Amino acid sequence: MSKTATLEFDGKKYEFPVTVGTEDEIGIDIKKLRGEAGLITLDPGFKNTGSCESAITFLDGEKGILRYRGYAIEDLAEKADFLEVVYLLIFGELPNKEQLEKFNKDIKEQSHVDEEMKKILDGFPKSAHPMGVLSSLTSALIAFNPSSVDVSSEEDMYKAIVKILGKFPVLAAWTLRKKNSLPLNYGDEDLGYVENLHKMMFEKPNKAYSVDKAVIDALDKLLILHADHEQNCSTSTVRMVGSSHAGLFASLSAGISALWGPLHGGANQAVIEMLEKIKEDGGDTHKFMQKAKDKEDPFRLMGFGHRVYKNFDPRAKIIKKSADEVLAQLGVDDPVLDIAKGLEKEALEDDYFVKRKLYPNVDFYSGIIYRALGIPVEMFTVMFALGRLPGWIAQWREMRLKKEPIGRPRQIYVGENHREYKPLGNR
Ligand code: SDX
Repeated sequence: MSKTATLEFDGKKYEFPVTVGTEDEIGIDIKKLRGEAGLITLDPGFKNTGSCESAITFLDGEKGILRYRGYAIEDLAEKADFLEVVYLLIFGELPNKEQLEKFNKDIKEQSHVDEEMKKILDGFPKSAHPMGVLSSLTSALIAFNPSSVDVSSEEDMYKAIVKILGKFPVLAAWTLRKKNSLPLNYGDEDLGYVENLHKMMFEKPNKAYSVDKAVIDALDKLLILHADHEQNCSTSTVRMVGSSHAGLFASLSAGISALWGPLHGGANQAVIEMLEKIKEDGGDTHKFMQKAKDKEDPFRLMGFGHRVYKNFDPRAKIIKKSADEVLAQLGVDDPVLDIAKGLEKEALEDDYFVKRKLYPNVDFYSGIIYRALGIPVEMFTVMFALGRLPGWIAQWREMRLKKEPIGRPRQIYVGENHREYKPLGNR
């Protein structure tokens, strides 16, 4: 394979080196393109543009492969627990017993939030969307943890990382409790990371807390499946904000806002709302399939399609199987699961979807499990953010440790050419 790529333009030839990744992906290194050829590339949505070299997550959209630090998502979802995966993504290796215990201890020591933060939460109406509240609270944490802002040493980064891993689940739980008018709490630090999250979210002030192990296992698996996904919209946002050295918490707050969008993490909420709408409309999936294909109709089949996966999203396969298992274990019969399966079957046989390689993505079935676990639909994307937190942290840390330059794309200007100012009276 050639070591360079040649560009010919205006009778001149330019050579650019190519970078080959450990999974044989090839990137043309155009760092010198503008300097040597006076040209830039144009790629709205960055569909063909790599923003960085990363050692964290590998995915192959054609083959439906997803690996965190080389470990297959199927193995991790089946055999690991979420905190192990958090450690793996951030530090690159599965932790041994001592490392995991220390990591867990360091996080627990940070799992309280300044009481003053409750005043900020109080300022929100109950109707506020939890993603907007969570993004604001994450940014507000900066004021109470100033030492976590200007971090450049690995040691200071570690301190900021365990702080946010300890406090973020508290903020997410408080966001739900605020909506449910329940007193804010801290759960029980003797519980595991995921069980304590569940307890903080759902414990009642006047009733002993108990939970079915199947619920915690399902939640743990869902968090693992959402933990990272290379340079998606919200992760790229975290990297971009972090590249200005704005600090970890500010970068995460921006990532939460990006994830909120219905084309991204907000799709899991949009999927359930879509399925409910189809159910209310009599369950005619064919009618909605036609709407999804009609260019004049803004309706899209939420939870379908993906920028990278042009085959089954491996996470969707695992979540679909888990949905059957969890609903059976919990004795939940949710009619929208059958509607979802009907839509999937129809789409996989429909030329419009097949031609465009539109398959169910991570968001298509996840909401059905969240609902069976008693999580309200407006909290679905918060659950996505809780899962994606370690991925955002790992990507931010990799970018900072590699001392990547500040992100600043170029553009092609298509506006007015120079023109003279016209006084008001002459316009
Ligand atoms: C996530 O990037 C990541 O890794 C994201 C994520 C992660 O883990 O971080 O995987 C999480 O965000 C999953 C995606 C969740 N979003 C949705 O489910 C929303 C519905 N899906 C689409 O809006 C869309 O598929 C996107 C946004 C996911 C991807 O859009 P692209 O890559 O820009 O593709 P496109 O919009 O150019 O679509 C290509 C064609 C178009 O038709 P034509 O113009 O070629 O005729 O496919 C059509 C689109 O109209 N199309 C759909 C469709 N998705 C794409 N048509 C109907 N329903 C859909 N869902």
